[in-house]
Amino acid sequence: MTQRNLDTQQRVQSYIQELFPPPDAVLDSFEAQLRSAGLPAIQVPAELGKLLAILVRSSGARRILEIGTLGGYSAAWMARALPQNGRLVSLELEPRHAEFARSFLEQAAVSDKVEIIVGPALETLPMLLEREQPDFDLVFIDADKAAYPAYLDWALRFVRPGGLIVGDNVLRGGRVAEPGEDADLRGLDEFNRHAATSPLLDSLILPNRDGQDGVLIAAVKSQDE
Ligand code: SAH
Ligand code: DHB
Ligand code: MG
Repeated sequence: MTQRNLDTQQRVQSYIQELFPPPDAVLDSFEAQLRSAGLPAIQVPAELGKLLAILVRSSGARRILEIGTLGGYSAAWMARALPQNGRLVSLELEPRHAEFARSFLEQAAVSDKVEIIVGPALETLPMLLEREQPDFDLVFIDADKAAYPAYLDWALRFVRPGGLIVGDNVLRGGRVAEPGEDADLRGLDEFNRHAATSPLLDSLILPNRDGQDGVLIAAVKSQDE
């Protein structure tokens, strides 16, 4: 990164931060709380939380499935954008993460809308499909990267026509272009290729985190398209 590019990035970042100060004391306190609990600070950046909230609002979503809860930060952004009777189901491997998330979502006043299911998602997804109507409006994929291709298959089973599938961390500093033997990068590359070429989906990748990573957004086409 040249000095000039750094200056530009900093100017752009501080301009945006000045325009959009942290929206909320609870969301703003998330990272400090997460760090004092000793959990990894790998939640979505605030602007991606905001993008998710706008997708939820503008699509009129009522039912959301999230794969990868961590401390409940992305869940809080999305749940806040849901209507009163909306629901979010979030899947998390680590009981400690789920416990933290339950307490954070309580603080964010959305715990009545959110259910966290603990376990490996590839085991809890089949159980969920037996219990739930496969008519979710939005599926947000943000767990172990090697399993993204499998999560995309599951997302396609859960989401309704016209719904949205969103995947975080799909660029990984551009390393996804040369995945080599790395299982995470290979998973992400396969996920991106499947989403880009599937006749069922209309997808794009939005670079974020100063171009260091990206989010894939896919609209699920309606049957008559
Ligand atoms: N969406 C969160 C961040 C998720 S970080 C946010 O933005 O706030 C990724 C999470 O996926 C971690 O909490 C990790 O424990 C969880 N995870 C990893 N492997 C998993 C698996 N096999 N099933 C379910 N969750 C998993
Ligand atoms: C990392 C970041 C993420 O958003 C994620 O979901 C997993 C890992 C990371 O920076 O390591
Ligand atoms: Mg992520």
